[in-house]
Amino acid sequence: MKITIYGAGYVGLVTAVCLASIGHQVVCFDVDKDKITKLKQGESVIFEERLSLILKAQLKSGNLFFTNNFVDAIKHSALQMIAVGTPGLPDGQADLSQVFALAAEVVNHVSRDMILIIKSTVTVGTGNRLEKYIKDQLASMGKDYTIDVVVNPEFFCEGRAIDTFMHADRIVIGGSKRGTTIVKALYKKLIHQGIPVQCMSKTSAELTKYAANAMLACKISFINQISQIAEKVGANIDDVKSGISLDHRIGPYFLQAGIGYGGSCFPKDIRALAKTAQLLNLDSSLLDAIDKVNNLQKKWAISCLLQHFKNNLQGLTIGIWGVAFKPGTDDIREASSLVIIEALLQYDVQMRIYDPLAMPNARLCFPGNKNILWCESQDEVFTSQIDALIIDTEWEIFKNYSLAILHEKLVDAPIIDGRNCFALSNVIQAGIRYYYSVGRVF
Ligand code: UDX
Repeated sequence: MKITIYGAGYVGLVTAVCLASIGHQVVCFDVDKDKITKLKQGESVIFEERLSLILKAQLKSGNLFFTNNFVDAIKHSALQMIAVGTPGLPDGQADLSQVFALAAEVVNHVSRDMILIIKSTVTVGTGNRLEKYIKDQLASMGKDYTIDVVVNPEFFCEGRAIDTFMHADRIVIGGSKRGTTIVKALYKKLIHQGIPVQCMSKTSAELTKYAANAMLACKISFINQISQIAEKVGANIDDVKSGISLDHRIGPYFLQAGIGYGGSCFPKDIRALAKTAQLLNLDSSLLDAIDKVNNLQKKWAISCLLQHFKNNLQGLTIGIWGVAFKPGTDDIREASSLVIIEALLQYDVQMRIYDPLAMPNARLCFPGNKNILWCESQDEVFTSQIDALIIDTEWEIFKNYSLAILHEKLVDAPIIDGRNCFALSNVIQAGIRYYYSVGRVF
């Protein structure tokens, strides 16, 4: 099938590359000329495992094209997919301006019946609003075409985007019978491989996306709140997690205690859903609590430092391992590390920071900051004696680091492990004296 995708950001690019790889003819449009030039040459503009390889292969196969010419893009097909950004506004609502601006352009240039697929995460009710807006615009222009709006949210995870697209847990399609049938055909190959498909109304599909993210974020905030209790009473969160996750109704996933969730989806989507509830005059206290617990958890490492150094951080040099919001990505959006670095800057401490992928993005957040030394490796963090090491991201290279060497480098400086990278028994065996981890007493 032929399809046009608008937006070569994270969602649009991964979707374009994956749809091309299952045999569709994909044109991907973006207004950013530099980005399109790079993509045309097979240069990926985001870091994602296997993306560059598949991108190059699909460009070569002729299934994938990039353009910044809107007319070329819209002419390519009757299937148009919106994958532009819907960032959070200061009041929590999703900013839909790019979605509506794009729909207006589609209406201006349309010359046949079309299906407009919303892939971006949009406020519940947007699909219906957009369909009405398009209908009214077409009528006012005297254009006799039908544009069906279909909502088809993405559920893939950063760092494993290709894999979680190709082997998704489910495909959700919301819209009319005609619209959903056509969009279902787009995923025929994946559905034949056994991925379940759920067809529903546009509003249900929009709410499904938010509900999925809210449920996952809720599990994280839940275990983080339990971890706070565990620390106070001397329980071990790993044991508690095992104890509850053997109950099939609960399960083991998304119950890893840590320094809170970040990324481009959870924080913004939870706030947007809470705002939706409030605008409907509904109680949003559970959703608000998920966000509140998460914001509190991001301060955990600073509390440990203050406790260890008896509220006096003056003159300290702190090592930081990890800036990315999770391993496998260079993305630092809403990362807990940023909250920690900001707080340490307030205390005027010196920092020596290393992340395997996210350093370029992190540097941009703190340009020329004299308190921060950006290191070339995890070992460079130790080239002068540090007073504490904070682990913000559970990269494999940190988890596999020898605890004996860590002990040697740190001497008696504490490890503040925000991602529970090490088993307590191994830490004890290595002779490390001060080790703080989430929900576990050392
Ligand atoms: C998430 C959803 O998983 C995905 O379905 C949706 O499409 C987009 O948002 P992503 O943002 O890529 O994906 O990251 P995810 O792996 O879900 O992790 C999000 C955050 O939660 C990370 O900061 C991670 O460290 C944290 N997390 C995750 C925990 O703290 N504990 C856990 O048990 C799981």
